[in-house]
Amino acid sequence: MNADFHLGPFPSAAGYDEAVAADAADPLGSFRDRFVDDDPSTIYLDGNSLGRLSHAAADAVATAVGHEWGSRLIRSWNERWWSLAGEVGACIAPLVGAAADEVIVADSTTVNLHKLAAAAMAHRAGRTRIVTDDLNFPSDVHVLRSVANGAGAQLHVVRSDGVHGPVDEIVDALDEDVALLSLSATVFKSGYTYDIERLTDAAHAVGALVLWDLSHAVGAVTVDLATANADLAVGCTYKFLNGGPGSPAFLYVRRDLQDQLRNPIAGWWGDAEPFEFGLAHEPAPGIVRFQTGTAPVLSLVGAEAGIGLVAEAGMAAIAAKGRALVAQVETLADARLAPLGVRWVSPRDADRRGAHAALAHDDAWQICQALIDIGRVIPDFRAPDNIRLGLSPLTTSHLDAHTAVERLARVIENGLAADYPADRAAVT
Ligand SMILES: Cc1ncc(COP(=O)(O)O)c(C=O)c1O
Repeated sequence: MNADFHLGPFPSAAGYDEAVAADAADPLGSFRDRFVDDDPSTIYLDGNSLGRLSHAAADAVATAVGHEWGSRLIRSWNERWWSLAGEVGACIAPLVGAAADEVIVADSTTVNLHKLAAAAMAHRAGRTRIVTDDLNFPSDVHVLRSVANGAGAQLHVVRSDGVHGPVDEIVDALDEDVALLSLSATVFKSGYTYDIERLTDAAHAVGALVLWDLSHAVGAVTVDLATANADLAVGCTYKFLNGGPGSPAFLYVRRDLQDQLRNPIAGWWGDAEPFEFGLAHEPAPGIVRFQTGTAPVLSLVGAEAGIGLVAEAGMAAIAAKGRALVAQVETLADARLAPLGVRWVSPRDADRRGAHAALAHDDAWQICQALIDIGRVIPDFRAPDNIRLGLSPLTTSHLDAHTAVERLARVIENGLAADYPADRAAVT
C-alpha cells in the first residue's frame, strides 16, 4: 500500500461530470446494493471473470445448506433439487432469446462444448472439417481439436488481426466439407462480438451446424438465438450472470435438433428412466438428454439467484448500460491513457463489442499488480500484454469507471509498476 496514492474521486479530471450525470440517470443504479461489497474503496472490474456475490445468492445457498441439506436431506431431491437444472436453464433462456425447453444447466462450459461439438460431428458424419478462429478461448480450441481428431476430421483455425473477428475469412473457409462452425459470440480478450445471425446463415448455407460460446455475451449483450436460428450454444454462469465460482454452465440445443442429436457423454441423468436402473441407455426426450451426471446442487442454487437478478434487470437495460460503460472508458482511455503508452485493443465499432474493454501496454502484468495493490482497482491481466476491464453493468457505476481509469493513469505516471515482479502468478 502507498499511503500517498489518492484514490479519488477526481472531480477535476475530464469526464467526471458526465459520469456523475450518467449514474444519476441509470435505471440499474439500485442493483448495486443487491450485491455484497465489504470494501467500497476497491473498484472491482473483473465481473466478466467472476461476477460478484449477490445477497440473494448468499441467502439461497445458506438455506440450501441449512434447511434442504441439513434438515430435509435426501427428501430435497424430490422437493426441489431434481428439476433444478432445467428450471435454471429456463431462467437463462429468455436472456439468450431461447425457449424455456431449449436450455439446461450442466457440467462446465468446456464439457458442454465437447458434448455438443461431438454430437454435431456425428450428425454431420462424412464431413471433414470444423472451423473456428484464433480469438476463441483456448479451452474451446482444445475441445474442437480433440473432437475433430476423434472424428477423423481437421480443425481449421482462421487467423485474425488479434482484435476483430475475421468474418470474411471465416465465410470463405465455409464449404460443404464443414460439419461445424464454432465461435465465441463475444471473444474473451478484445470483446469483439460477432453478428450471430450473419455467421449462422453463412454456415447454414453450406449445410454446417453452428455452436456458439456465449460465455462473455450472456448477461452483457443482447443475444437472440431464435431469430438467428442458431443450432447450438454453451456458456458460463459465473461471469456476467454472477452464479458463483465454478457454477455449472448452460447448454442450448434448438428444439427441432434435440431428438436428432445424441449426447456423447451419456449418463443416467440424461436417461429417459433413470430410476428404472436399466443397463440399456434410452436418451430422455428433449433437452434433458444432454445432462450426464448428478447436478452440483449448491452451485446451482447460487447460480439461480444470480441469474434471477439479471432477469429482473432485463437484458435490454443491461446491454444498453454495458455499451455506455465501454464507450465511456474508450473516450477516457483515448484522452488520458493513450499518451501514457496504453493502446485501445477492443473494436472501435460499438455494435461489435461486449461489456468489457481491452487495453494493452508492454508492462501490463506489472501495471496490473500495482493497480490492484496500490490503485485498488481489480482488472485482469491476459497474456501477453492485455489489461482487461470488465464493466459488469449490474455492479459497475460510471463513477467507478471514471475513477478506475484515473487511478490507472496515476499508477503509470508515477512509475509504481516498476517495483512489481515480472514473474506471473498462477491465476492472472
Ligand atoms: C469464452 C470461454 N469459454 C469457455 C471457458 C471455460 O469455461 P469452464 O472452465 O467453465 O469450462 C471460459 C472460461 O473463462 C471462457 O471465457
